[in-house]
Amino acid sequence: MRIAQQTIDDVRAASDIVEVISAHVKLKKRGKNFLGLCPFHTEKTPSFTVSAEKQMYHCFGCHKGGNVITFVMEHQKVSFVEAVRSLAGRVGIVIPDESSESVEQQTESENLYNACRFAADLFHKNLTATEEGRATLEYFHKRGFSDDTIRLFGLGYSMNSWDALLQRATSEGFKPEILLRAGLIRSKEGGGQYDYFRGRGMFPIFSTSGRVIGFGARKLRNDDPIQGKYINSPETPIYDKSRVLFGLFHSKDAIRQEDTALMVEGYADLVSVYQAGVQNVVASSGTALTEKQLDLLGRYSKKIKLVYDADNAGSAASLRGVDLALEHDFDVEVVQLPQGDDPDSFVQKNGGKEFRSILEKSSSFIDFKAQQFQRSGAFATPEGKTQAVRSIVQSIARMKDELKRNFYIKEVSQKYDVYESILYRELERWVAQERKLSHNQRMRETSEGSTREEVNAPAARTPAALPPAERDIIKLLFEGNEEIIRFIFSNVTPEQFSDRRVDRIARTVLQWIDEHGKVDSQTLLNQITAEDEKGIITDILLSKYELSKGWGEMEKEIDEPDPREIAKTAVRILKRNAVQQEMEENQ
Ligand code: UTP
Ligand code: MN
Repeated sequence: MRIAQQTIDDVRAASDIVEVISAHVKLKKRGKNFLGLCPFHTEKTPSFTVSAEKQMYHCFGCHKGGNVITFVMEHQKVSFVEAVRSLAGRVGIVIPDESSESVEQQTESENLYNACRFAADLFHKNLTATEEGRATLEYFHKRGFSDDTIRLFGLGYSMNSWDALLQRATSEGFKPEILLRAGLIRSKEGGGQYDYFRGRGMFPIFSTSGRVIGFGARKLRNDDPIQGKYINSPETPIYDKSRVLFGLFHSKDAIRQEDTALMVEGYADLVSVYQAGVQNVVASSGTALTEKQLDLLGRYSKKIKLVYDADNAGSAASLRGVDLALEHDFDVEVVQLPQGDDPDSFVQKNGGKEFRSILEKSSSFIDFKAQQFQRSGAFATPEGKTQAVRSIVQSIARMKDELKRNFYIKEVSQKYDVYESILYRELERWVAQERKLSHNQRMRETSEGSTREEVNAPAARTPAALPPAERDIIKLLFEGNEEIIRFIFSNVTPEQFSDRRVDRIARTVLQWIDEHGKVDSQTLLNQITAEDEKGIITDILLSKYELSKGWGEMEKEIDEPDPREIAKTAVRILKRNAVQQEMEENQ
């Protein structure tokens, strides 16, 4: 159940963060802020800071942060809605039903979510309660999907008609424009629109928080004019393909619990495997893993087991994704199924127990890669061997952990009869290249006047280690006036940030401004679900401007730095870095 934005704002405004947190953490006043021992990690000296003025908290030790609602969510381990309800109860606010909110008041994304939810409901009803849908229901049953599973994953059927959805949705008040933007219908050349999904088995794609954002649609009939076995929703404002993993909403708890994510390729694979009781599973939907998908998955576990079928496990796309996972510090293992099987067919034939036991027999990705080369006969010729070794070592070089690298080098040397020294020489080459890349990064950062010693790899950077100019720009986006924000966005684009979390925060802010005209940091904090991003925002908002620190010391206590000056300086630095980077890349 959603709660109206106004109500959320009211509840937050009525709930003083210092009061709420004081009930759980002993706070002492320290200057403008309050300080205590962090409830989210063990510490002896207090670094948990609460600002009454900003109504935010941030732990400068573990980098967790947020507002009063996120505090209740984290501390009580409850959902957003539950947290708002609990706070509302405390201050005596009654939460009215969502139906009181009119369609016009909702934002663009809410409209799109609603349209997708409506479509998913309709497809599901088509499947379970219409004559035309019966054949598809039987098809799903024949594939072994139970009614519970069909309900859980919201499977459906799109009528074999040009406008079944269009008609129903518009009669329910959805504007064609919204349906178009949600990827549910298309425009005809001469005017008018038609349903995109016609006569197909529908797999709704859920966001991590469980909202329908798109569909995968399986071909059922031979006379289907569209070739692809599956067609998928196009990208929409709510469906960024590079940022979604099919099934994660259903599997995230199991992934965290088992501390491993199984990665399968197909929609049907996921549904079958999940139904068989192996619930820590996500589907890559047949494409290579992206960095953003890995970030998402990494919140739940840093261990991936690929369960691909024996034939295509070596497909170039999946291998590329795996290398990226190694680089992002994931443990990657490969499970090999018997020739000709995919996870779905294996489970249907042999059951969940057999599947579990085959999962136990996974091998490390490096080992798997070596085996592939060996099997293909590459080790038989000197050229083949060179190429194979190079490719294997290249994967090893991506690992950040030196011990791990050495371990794998030894293993490959022993198993595949290659001199360790050759492997090390090759490894050195690749590692040196990586080092050069990060050296360039470091140069970029120090040229901003940063004296920070600790410059980690971008993924691991603490909020404090972010480039000062980027920190200040984020602060300005939250605190600056409209003119300053406009100035920033007309001079820098989010991609110019060196840190992808900062990039994401900036994008969220930009989208927010597009929709609402100005930034409301409290509401934005509720929108952002990524913990590291929240931590960065609260760290920055509870700290001073970085680029003003220097002058403050020299000119003695300029308490209120001029945000315009800071904006100009920060933008200049970012632009200079962007040019520099481009030059390096061109070289
Ligand atoms: P597969 O061809 O392995 O299909 O594609 P599957 O999942 O086993 O399908 P069934 O069992 O025949 O129903 C794997 C995944 O690649 C994507 C889909 O996400 C699919 O689940 N795919 C495949 C497409 O998006 N389009 C296609 O035309 C084919
Ligand atoms: Mn299949």
